[in-house]
Amino acid sequence: MTHSLRALAALFLAGSAALSPALAATGTAPAGMAGAPTATAILARIQLAQATGQPTAPPADPQGAAARSDAVRRASPTPVASRQPTGAFPTNEISRQPSIDLGAGEDALRKDIGALQQTLTELQQLQLQTKQAHWNVSGTLYYPLHLLLQEHYEGLSKYADTIAERLLAVGASADGRANTIVRTSGVPEIPGGFLDDAQILAWFTQAYKRVGEEVNRGIKVTEDIDPTTSNLLQEVEHGIAKYQWQMRAHLQRTGTDPNAGRDLNDGKPVELPGTEPGQAAPDRGTPGQAAPKP
Ligand SMILES: [Fe+2]
Repeated sequence: MTHSLRALAALFLAGSAALSPALAATGTAPAGMAGAPTATAILARIQLAQATGQPTAPPADPQGAAARSDAVRRASPTPVASRQPTGAFPTNEISRQPSIDLGAGEDALRKDIGALQQTLTELQQLQLQTKQAHWNVSGTLYYPLHLLLQEHYEGLSKYADTIAERLLAVGASADGRANTIVRTSGVPEIPGGFLDDAQILAWFTQAYKRVGEEVNRGIKVTEDIDPTTSNLLQEVEHGIAKYQWQMRAHLQRTGTDPNAGRDLNDGKPVELPGTEPGQAAPDRGTPGQAAPKP
C-alpha cells in the first residue's frame, strides 16, 4: 500500500468513527436511525420560527466539520487553499470603487444589503429543498409533484440570480455559500429519505409562507431607501406567493369536497388548518403538518 493510500484509509476510518455521533447530535440522522426527527417535530420548528421571527436552523458543527475538512485537505494531492480568510456568514463586502449612490446614507445601504442577502439565502434554501423533493417525492401525486417541483426550482434559481446580481449592482458582494444557507436560513432542514406527497404539500405550503412573509418585510424596509430593490423583491414575493398557492390548492376545501388529503395520507387528514369540515376558518399564523403515519 502506498503512502497516500494508507493516508486515505486512515482518513476513512477516522471519518467513519466521527460521523455517527455528529449526525445524531445535529438531528440529521437518516430515516430509520434512532433519534431521526419526525416530520411533526421538524414542521413544528417552522411554527417556532413564525412565532419568534428567528431563524431555526440548527447550530452548525464547526469543530467536526473543520476537522473533516482539514483531514480532506491534508490527504488531497492538490490541497485547496486560499490567501483570503473565510470571513463571517454572511459576508457582504462593500466595493470601494464608484457605484451609484442611493443617496440615503451608509445605514440605509446596510439595510438594503441585509434585505437582499436574506432573500438570496432563503431562495437558495428553497432551491435545494425543491430539488430534494423533486427527486424523492413518493405516492399518488408523484408525477405532477415531480414536475411542479422542477418548475419551482427553475423559477427560484432565476429569482436567486436576480437578487444576487442586485447586491453586486448596489456595490456589495453576494454570499451564496453553503455555510451561509445552513447558518442563516429561517427554513429548517427538510427531512431526508423518501418524501410522502402529503408531507411535501404541507411542508412547502408553510415554507413558502414563511419566506414570502420575510420578503414582504424586505419590501417595506427598502421601499424608501432603494425603490429598485423594493420592486425586485415585489417580483420575488409575487412568485413565492404563486408557488405557495400551488401547494396549498391541493388541500383547498370546497363546498362539495373537504379535500382533507385523506387519499394521500393513509386515510388520515393532512393537518393544515381549515381542511376538516366544520373546522373554524384558518388561523393564518398557525402552520400545518402531515399527520404522521403509524
Ligand atoms: Fe429531474
